[in-house]
Amino acid sequence: MVNDDRLVPAGDSNLPLAPARRRVEKFATGFIKALFRILKIARLHDVNNKALVHPIQDFVSKVEDGLRILGPINFKWGIDIFKVNDIRLRLDDDSFNLARLMADNLRERGIGSLYLSRNIEGEQVKDFLKMYLTAPHNREAYDLLNRELDKAGIPIRTGPLSMGTGEGGYEMVDVDRRVHALILYGRMVALMKRVVAGMEDKSEVKILSRRLQRCTQGLVDLCEAEAHSIIGLAQIKDYDDYEYHHVINVAVLSIVLGREIGLERTELNELASCALFYDIGTFKIPNDVLYKRGKLSEDEWNVIKRHPMLTVSTILKMQGFAPSILKRLIVGFEHHIGYDGSGYPTALKGWKTDLYTRILSIADAFDAMTSRRPNREPIPPDQAMRKLEERSGKLYDPALVKVFINCMGLFPAGSVVQLSDDTFGVVILPGKAPDFDRPKVKILVQSSGKPVNGAVIDLAEKNSNGTYKISVKRLADPVAEKLPVPRYLVGVH
Ligand SMILES: [Fe+2]
Repeated sequence: MVNDDRLVPAGDSNLPLAPARRRVEKFATGFIKALFRILKIARLHDVNNKALVHPIQDFVSKVEDGLRILGPINFKWGIDIFKVNDIRLRLDDDSFNLARLMADNLRERGIGSLYLSRNIEGEQVKDFLKMYLTAPHNREAYDLLNRELDKAGIPIRTGPLSMGTGEGGYEMVDVDRRVHALILYGRMVALMKRVVAGMEDKSEVKILSRRLQRCTQGLVDLCEAEAHSIIGLAQIKDYDDYEYHHVINVAVLSIVLGREIGLERTELNELASCALFYDIGTFKIPNDVLYKRGKLSEDEWNVIKRHPMLTVSTILKMQGFAPSILKRLIVGFEHHIGYDGSGYPTALKGWKTDLYTRILSIADAFDAMTSRRPNREPIPPDQAMRKLEERSGKLYDPALVKVFINCMGLFPAGSVVQLSDDTFGVVILPGKAPDFDRPKVKILVQSSGKPVNGAVIDLAEKNSNGTYKISVKRLADPVAEKLPVPRYLVGVH
């Protein structure tokens, strides 16, 4: 079966295959196979084993080919996305599966790319394999490995997980970006309300959709510059307008997750537009059924189960059919079908949901669980992350869940926390593996209750005796607790 995710065009790939592109893809197929083989065999045998002699020679010659054809080789991967020298690869089924298995393995050591700038010798490949296999399983391993490779003069460098983004996503955000993000968010909520109120008026919906698109492009821009400037937006919760805020939060979280796995700009925009419309069918379900407390009757449940189809028919009525809305229809139809094919509508055996659906269903579940809904109380983000983990492989794509937790941490940016010294602060950067519960926090309220423009504290810092200096005591609700914190810094609306 052809994997449709690989047919999503990237950059100029709508055009017929250019010779250069074909050359890159031909090289990449051989390179991926050679790399997969040496990594696999080295896990089973000592690096001096006979079984590795030919595979290492093959890898060395593939590197030579690549350097001759392309110059320095830069191989990167996201979830189900592979690039060589920034050209998105369209691989056949076998190569795709090999690349996926290999990337999963490398990802466990925090590696998101390999860079080779000159020829490598067989003995150096062996040393690389030894270093790779003994590298720790955490997000910083790539850095450690690089230092060892550098010291040994081996011409391979490894890059971090976030495709093409470097570590820039973990810098402090500036206030302008946050204010801009907040303005876009407010505009989108207002526009979504108008879309829902004017669903029957096609020309009005067209105008509003264009405006929404401009807003989502703005969010993508902000996210590309600094992901954490928009993650905080998804902490904005509003009980009265839950459904509108939910849609925008899902768009925000989907953009963040999509960027983290290396989606292109055009794809992030398309993903965001899917997020705005994927659940529009629910606006046609009576609120007393949609938000009923307690168990639903069989009839009520059947009404709920119809909403993916209602979404499809509503999108078609509002926007008419065009190839550009195909993804919206697919995601609207699939968004309650699990990774394993469970859920509703009943999927055909072996149904594989679209990559956008798998991204969006994680964003949807996380925001729903952490929001106060008319029929449910919220749970804290750390508990919601654990629920995602529990259901990964069943409802959610396990690789995507891992990436999501990695980029959000247990206390996502924008969360307000009370620390063990009774000060309050806002999470600026989430905790990194394995310290997911140890974010960087900017102090905003002293233990006396006095507002302060305090320092940023890294909760992963330890005392000389190995104990943590300070920890999160609890997640706080800045509105209910009337905390004097600036609105632009936290998820307060
Ligand atoms: Fe839904």
